[in-house]
Amino acid sequence: IRLLSVTSEMFPFVKTGGLGDVAGSLPMALARYGVNVTTLLPGYRPVMAAMEDRRAVAHLPDLLGHAATLWAARAGDVDLLVLDAPTLFDRPGNPYMCPDGQDWPDNGVRFAALSRMAANIAQGQLACYRPDLVHAHDWQAGLTAAYLHYDRMAAGDDAAAIPRIPVVQTIHNLAFQGRFPASSMAEFGLPPEAFSVEGCECYGAISFLKAGLYFADRITTVSPTYAHEIQTPEGGMGLDGLLRQRRDRLEGILNGISTDIWNPASDPAVHFPYMPGDALGRAPNKRALQAEFGLAADPDAFVIGIVSRLTEQKGIDLLPQVTGNLLAGNTQIIVVGEGDREIERSLVALQQRFAGRFACRIGYSERLGHRVPSAVDALLIPSRFEPCGLTQLSALRYGAVPVASRVGGLADTIVDANPAAMAHGVATGFLFSPVDASTLVTAVSRARMLYRRNRRAWRQLQVNGAACDVSWNEHAVHYVMLFADVLGLDPYAAA
Ligand code: ADP
Ligand code: GLC
Repeated sequence: IRLLSVTSEMFPFVKTGGLGDVAGSLPMALARYGVNVTTLLPGYRPVMAAMEDRRAVAHLPDLLGHAATLWAARAGDVDLLVLDAPTLFDRPGNPYMCPDGQDWPDNGVRFAALSRMAANIAQGQLACYRPDLVHAHDWQAGLTAAYLHYDRMAAGDDAAAIPRIPVVQTIHNLAFQGRFPASSMAEFGLPPEAFSVEGCECYGAISFLKAGLYFADRITTVSPTYAHEIQTPEGGMGLDGLLRQRRDRLEGILNGISTDIWNPASDPAVHFPYMPGDALGRAPNKRALQAEFGLAADPDAFVIGIVSRLTEQKGIDLLPQVTGNLLAGNTQIIVVGEGDREIERSLVALQQRFAGRFACRIGYSERLGHRVPSAVDALLIPSRFEPCGLTQLSALRYGAVPVASRVGGLADTIVDANPAAMAHGVATGFLFSPVDASTLVTAVSRARMLYRRNRRAWRQLQVNGAACDVSWNEHAVHYVMLFADVLGLDPYAAA
C-alpha cells in the first residue's frame, strides 16, 4: 500500500506538539506491515534544510495564487514531498505563528495550498508517484477530501477519468478546526456551492476540519475514549452532530511512541542511562535535574514534573491556585512549557514566590522533554481534554508515575492505583475527575502518600508502567487493517 500522509508538522524536522511526533514515528511502524508512507510537508525553512537527494517533480506557477515547486526528497529514513512555496512558508517562527506568538494572518491559504497539492497528487498528477490512499492529519489537511469531491463534481461526465483515491481524516485535536471567513472561498479555490452545510460551511464560516470530516471516507481520532467524547455535546466542540451522523465511519486508534527514540538506556538527553523498569537506576537523574533547576538536592523530596504546551486544554492555568497545596510535605515542582503568555507569566511568578521548590523553564526544549520524565517521581497531566497525549506514554516508559485527569487517551493508557488495581498488580498511575483544583490536589496527595508510606508499592507502579507496550506495534496494525478495509483489500492478508 502506498500512503500519502499530509501533515503540517513532522518530527524531527518541525514539531510543536504530538502531531509532529505521530507524523514522524507512524511511517516507520507502518513500513513493517508493507505500508509505504510518503509525507507531504510544507517547505518551512527547517524542512527545506533537511532534504537530501532532492529533485523537483512539479512546478506550479499558480497554486492558489502562489508560485510553488514540489520536491521529492529523502530525509533520514523517510520519503518526503515538500511543497516549496516561499511566499507561504519561507518565514521565521513556528508553523502557525510569527515569532511574537500571533497566528500568521494567511494561515487559511497556507494550508489550503497544502491540501490542494495533496489533492493534485491523489488525482495522479505526478508522473513519479501515485498513492493508493491519503492520510490527512488535522485541519491543516482537511480540505484535501473537499477538493477531491468538488473536482469530481466539476468534471461531470469526465469524472470517471480522475482516479478515486480514498481519504482517511485523522483528528488529533478537535479544538483546532481551521475556521476562516466565508469571503475566503474563492481564495481557497472552492466553488460557491461548497459553502453549504453539506460541504465546508460550519456555523457561518468555512471550517477546514469540518470539510474533512464531511467528505473523508473514514475518520479516525487518537484514542477510543476521545472517539466517544467527541460525539457528545460536551466534547464535540460543535461538531458532535456530524460525528454522530458519521459514527459508523469513525474509530479511535491510540497513538504510540517510538521506543527507539524514547529509550532511557540510549537516550542522549538522559544524564545517567538506565534500563526501562529500573526504578533505582533513575536516582542520579533526579539529583542532576534538581541541580539543573536550582532545587535542593534532596533525594527524599517528592518531585513532580510537567512538560506541556501551556494552554487552557492542558489545565496548567490551575497551578497558581494549587501550587501552595501541592508543595506540602517536601514536594518540588518542575515545569517545562511554552504557550499562552499569561500562563507563562503566572509560572514565572510562582517560581519567584516558591523559590527553591518550584522551578520553570519557559520555552521548547526537546532535551528537557526527555530529561524530565527520566528524573521526576511523578508527571502531572491535568488536561481538561486530551485526544491521546504522549507525555504519559514517555512517563510510563521512563518510570515517572503519571498523575492525570481521566479524559481521552489518558483514561485509555493509565490504570488508576485504586485498591483493586493495586491488588491485581496492574496499576500504573493516578487518575482524577472532574478536572478542578481540589481533585488535582487530592490526586497528587494520593500519589505522594503512596510514595512516602509504601516505596515498594510505588516501585511496583513504575515497573508496571515500564511493562506497558507504549510502542506503535499494536496500533499500527489497526491502521493497516483500516487502510486495507477502505481499499477493499483483505485486512488480515494486509496486516
Ligand atoms: P499536544 O500534542 O496536545 O501538545 P501530546 O502529549 O500529544 O500533546 O504531545 C506533546 C509532545 O510535545 C510531547 O512529545 C512532549 O514531550 C512535547 N512537548 C510539549 N511541550 C514541550 C516543551 N515545552 N519542550 C519540549 N517538549 C515539549
Ligand atoms: C494533539 C492532542 C494530543 C495528541 C496529539 C497527537 O495535539 O492534543 O492529545 O496526543 O495530537 O495525536
